[in-house]
Amino acid sequence: MSNKVPVDLSGPAKTMLSTLYLKALDADFDRPVLGDRFAKAAIDKLDFDWRELEITPKWAPLFTVRTALYDGWVREFIAAHPECTVVHLGCGLDCRVFRVDPGPDVRWYDVDFPQVIALREQIYPTRPNYQLIATPATEPNWLDEIPADRPTLLIAEGISMYLTEDEGIALLRRFIDRFGAGELQIDFFNWLAIKSQKSQSLVRTSGSVLYWAVNSPQDILSKLPDIRLLAATTFFDASTYSRTGPGLQAAKRAVRLLPPLRNALQYHRYAYGPR
Ligand SMILES: C[S@@+](CC[C@H](N)C(=O)[O-])C[C@H]1O[C@@H](n2cnc3c(N)ncnc32)[C@H](O)[C@@H]1O
Repeated sequence: MSNKVPVDLSGPAKTMLSTLYLKALDADFDRPVLGDRFAKAAIDKLDFDWRELEITPKWAPLFTVRTALYDGWVREFIAAHPECTVVHLGCGLDCRVFRVDPGPDVRWYDVDFPQVIALREQIYPTRPNYQLIATPATEPNWLDEIPADRPTLLIAEGISMYLTEDEGIALLRRFIDRFGAGELQIDFFNWLAIKSQKSQSLVRTSGSVLYWAVNSPQDILSKLPDIRLLAATTFFDASTYSRTGPGLQAAKRAVRLLPPLRNALQYHRYAYGPR
């Protein structure tokens, strides 16, 4: 009998299998973008037919460029605020807490749907100052479980598009109002990425629906005028894109004249609270 953990997910919760698998594939490349050995170990623990995801290794950079960029931004936040709280929303089975390996003065919360958190509990070890919160992001009370006594980072990677705009903005408002000072590090899909969702295997194979399109930081700043933009980039313009191979470097030149495509995947970083 197999000791592997059975996986039975659908909808948005299932999409994290694709991002995990692509990180594991990247780890086997000669020149990985992320090089996440934890993801590679994790997929071996799961009883799942990965072919079901219809994924090929060439798609790995679509996610590893983003994850590597946000790892850097998370490390910068922690370096600037050694005593802080990190709230990693829509964590899936991502191993950021192990990659970043924060020091003893950082409290870290990984948050996702209960069925995803149940899988995390079975395949990853626990660690000091680390807690899991099993909840839909839109449930208003989960933030109350997190002490509001330190600068607090919200890192939300690959989740905004599964929320409606009203849900997403309300969540960010609640977060800012509760924690008072910190950063919001979030990625968004623009109108083209939302419109072309049926062509995305991650969306198709999970049966998810994408809702919230954000075309520029102005879309966020107009709804949350009290936050400040620290950085905004895209998949093609991210600093970590330089780690991709020659094929994607050529693609970057090709999309130069196609702004909606160039801006399809947006990576934003904001500060909130007193300067
Ligand atoms: C594309 S995966 C990304 C996972 C992880 N951040 C990564 O980059 O590997 C999207 C994640 O968001 C979670 N998610 C989507 N909508 C959610 C919601 N309303 N509440 C909680 N989690 C949600 C899913 O369960 C899934 O783990």
